[in-house]
Amino acid sequence: MSTKESLPPIIGVYIMRCIYSITYYWEKIVPQIKFHRITHDFIVFQCLSVVFTLKVIDHLKESPKNVKELAVLTNSSEKNLFRVMRALSSEGFFSFDENSGKFSINSMSTLLTNNQITKENPTGINSDEESLSCLFSMIQYPAFIEAWNSLKDCVQTGVPGFHIKHGMSFFQYIDEKDTYLKKIFDSAMKQKNFMTKIHTQISQNYNFSDYSVICDIGGGVGYLGYEIISRHPKCQIHILEIEETVKNGLELCKGDSKKMLAIENEKMIFKVGDMFQPKTIPRANVYILMQVIHDWNNQDALRILSSITAVMRREKAITHQRPKLLIIDYIIEDNFNQDSYKKISISDIIMMAIVGGEERTRSQWNFLFKETGLSLLSVKKFNRPPFLSLMELTV
Ligand SMILES: C[S@@+](CC[C@H](N)C(=O)[O-])C[C@H]1O[C@@H](n2cnc3c(N)ncnc32)[C@H](O)[C@@H]1O
Repeated sequence: MSTKESLPPIIGVYIMRCIYSITYYWEKIVPQIKFHRITHDFIVFQCLSVVFTLKVIDHLKESPKNVKELAVLTNSSEKNLFRVMRALSSEGFFSFDENSGKFSINSMSTLLTNNQITKENPTGINSDEESLSCLFSMIQYPAFIEAWNSLKDCVQTGVPGFHIKHGMSFFQYIDEKDTYLKKIFDSAMKQKNFMTKIHTQISQNYNFSDYSVICDIGGGVGYLGYEIISRHPKCQIHILEIEETVKNGLELCKGDSKKMLAIENEKMIFKVGDMFQPKTIPRANVYILMQVIHDWNNQDALRILSSITAVMRREKAITHQRPKLLIIDYIIEDNFNQDSYKKISISDIIMMAIVGGEERTRSQWNFLFKETGLSLLSVKKFNRPPFLSLMELTV
């Protein structure tokens, strides 16, 4: 048969059948698998949360153990603990050695070790930057889970789930009611920054050396601040935070002689203040708001920006120099694209349910800037995490 001759009909039918099967698979089976995956992941999360809370992971970090030993250490039913551990091992969170009958941690569960902040030791610190234990600890924290249980009411009333459940805002709650959660939150933010390396990207991409005094407003435990003065040694950094975070920041620095030296030499200054109150914001050439504005609704975001611009205008009148404001947050493009939005919509839901903030589109940002008299000078987009941008503004 020459190559120009048509294929025998049987092969054509076979090809058509293959195409039909693949189409059927994608259209019918894949959505079913996706639904199954959601339930599946929810249960894996519940199991992981249990072994994390029972400190099984920390016990295994000391040495591999069989379930009998683990059950004694965690005061658990041997049979049920084994079922949970077997499920998590099959999901890749632990290794199981059939010969010895012992479980051990692996590259996944290692990420949840080294959580020194515990109920029994609430003043512990978490200096292990590569660990994700505080991020996980925060996500599975009962006050968080309760907020998620109020998601329906949040959608119907427009009030954040956290506020519905606890009768106050997230930041008020962690500042006044649960300083243990605040400690976990502060370390979780540090771990998130370490994971994305965003602090390094910012200090590399902005020439802070042109300025002498920087103020990181809502700067957490000073993770970005320390990176800036390390790379731009002529700068002095003020970290403006609520009282509890200042305490946590100072405590975290205690384990690090270089940071302690920066504090002693007043290169790094932790300052208790309130970004809503201009009189508590120190004088500076550059102000930073990293992942702060997305925590707030428009009304509060405008109050924060008005308070900072008041300080910036005063500074401009005194020095005749235009101070800068750097906002590091996500920008969603206005031409809504379902695929790209996918990457950011979950963060937006967290803002909605927990703190009452939102991830904003370019035009929503422009609205905030126009209302507070800020001029946008430049925008630098970061590759990781996607959509995170540095907006440089002035008055
Ligand atoms: C989402 S965290 C971001 C922390 C840090 N900028 C980062 O990106 O890792 C928001 C921070 O704002 C702080 N904050 C909340 N209310 C504040 C207020 N009224 N004044 C100053 N800081 C505040 C919180 O304590 C928290 O550390």
